[in-house]
Amino acid sequence: MESMTQEQYADSLLGEDPELERVLKSIKESGMPEVSIAPGYGRLLTLLVKISGAKRILEIGALGGYSGICLARGLAPGGQLVSLELKEEYAQLAKRNLTLAGFGDCADYRVGEALDSLDRLEAEDERFDLFLIDADKGNYPAYLEKAIRLANPGALILGDNAFLRGKTLDPERSGPSVQSVRAFNERALSDERLEATLLPAYDGLVLARVRG
Ligand SMILES: C[S@@+](CC[C@H](N)C(=O)[O-])C[C@H]1O[C@@H](n2cnc3c(N)ncnc32)[C@H](O)[C@@H]1O
Repeated sequence: MESMTQEQYADSLLGEDPELERVLKSIKESGMPEVSIAPGYGRLLTLLVKISGAKRILEIGALGGYSGICLARGLAPGGQLVSLELKEEYAQLAKRNLTLAGFGDCADYRVGEALDSLDRLEAEDERFDLFLIDADKGNYPAYLEKAIRLANPGALILGDNAFLRGKTLDPERSGPSVQSVRAFNERALSDERLEATLLPAYDGLVLARVRG
């Protein structure tokens, strides 16, 4: 028998998840990019929402709703997920998938450039307890700054794809997305307003807490 990677081994212990499988199938059938968050990090999202008691969650980058379902699963009744997505058809699929999973009522999708939506949320004086940053990599440092400004004290900020499939650790790579994600990682782990770490499984996940 061939040896498994650490992630394959961990994923094999998570068990069947027909709801999330349905999301992955719908993404494939719609011809959308198959870049949902890794299964083990999806489970971590649910756990972090539950452990932190987060009531209001802001997701940047919805795709087909995989991470949205994982986040919503952790919410207590009355909790809310606001999700920012550039593409109308992606937001529609995500909303459909969350509705099928029983979370339609708590999910609010805002279509358009995430930076514009974030400006509007700031102008409306909205505050959140947990953020998932998982959209266009070039804006990661700006998303981090916005998240800090929209955060309740003690809020958690998560950023997926900290390794960009190995590119952020490769000194030969210096494209705009790579530089941007490196800046995001460095800022998240050194900003005095945050306490943070970088989880090195899958494609890397930054986990930060806003001091308060
Ligand atoms: C990696 S996928 C998100 C995956 C999702 N979080 C999950 O795990 O199920 C990135 C998403 O960000 C969206 N996106 C890209 N640029 C964006 C922007 N400027 N504003 C808002 N959303 C954007 C893409 O359309 C895509 O759906």
